[in-house]
Amino acid sequence: MRTEPGYAETGNILLDRLFGAIIHDIPWDEDRNRRLREIAGHLKAAGRRPYLVPYGASDALGAMGYALAADEIVHDCPNAAWIVHGSGSAGTQAGLLAGLLALGHPARVIGVDVDAQPERVHADVCRVGRAAAALLGVEALWRDDRVEVAAAWSGGAYGLADRTTEEAIRLAARTEGFALDPVYAGKGMAGLIGLARQGRFPADDHVVWIHTGGVPGIFAYPETMARLSAPT
Ligand SMILES: Cc1ncc(COP(=O)(O)O)c(C=O)c1O
Repeated sequence: MRTEPGYAETGNILLDRLFGAIIHDIPWDEDRNRRLREIAGHLKAAGRRPYLVPYGASDALGAMGYALAADEIVHDCPNAAWIVHGSGSAGTQAGLLAGLLALGHPARVIGVDVDAQPERVHADVCRVGRAAAALLGVEALWRDDRVEVAAAWSGGAYGLADRTTEEAIRLAARTEGFALDPVYAGKGMAGLIGLARQGRFPADDHVVWIHTGGVPGIFAYPETMARLSAPT
């Protein structure tokens, strides 16, 4: 994971502190759910009653948020043929897919890998998505071969923006007035642009792109943001 000067004093970490969180700093490639269980275990042993939310809230219950989002999307855009978004710990994509299954809606979902771990993201979407489908009573309809993770727009590492991320952030800002961060939404948009340029979407298809949030991350990457914001 790559960070920039000031990373620990601004962006999401500043908000975490504002909200009163106790922060445990662990290596990016450590098994984060194992560490969370460990911390919950210590709290229990000390007589506390922790509620464990897995990394990214990416389990069947957490995925229900985006199952509800799928409902909202198809209500607002019934002809949606494609839904594209940044995908990392998998709950977003798993929830969208399970929600669409429960709704019987045929839109395809493409998660754009933001972690530079496309096989791991794919496996997690399959695992969490099947569990989310079970929670919605449609597990029998779940198919792993409907899970698509696009691998080319991760920037090479979590937190690292490449030329495609930077171009996407600039283009979205200057043509649409969107503020996208370089860790999540910028890569999701880079994927949307790249897939469109590859001719992936037939001209008449309706494509929904989800701005998944992450705006505070803009301020945690001052060097990247200054570079791509420079006058061209
Ligand atoms: C802003 C933002 N967008 C997208 C994602 C990726 O979603 P998921 O982890 O559910 O795959 C995250 C995950 O932390 C996120 O914070």
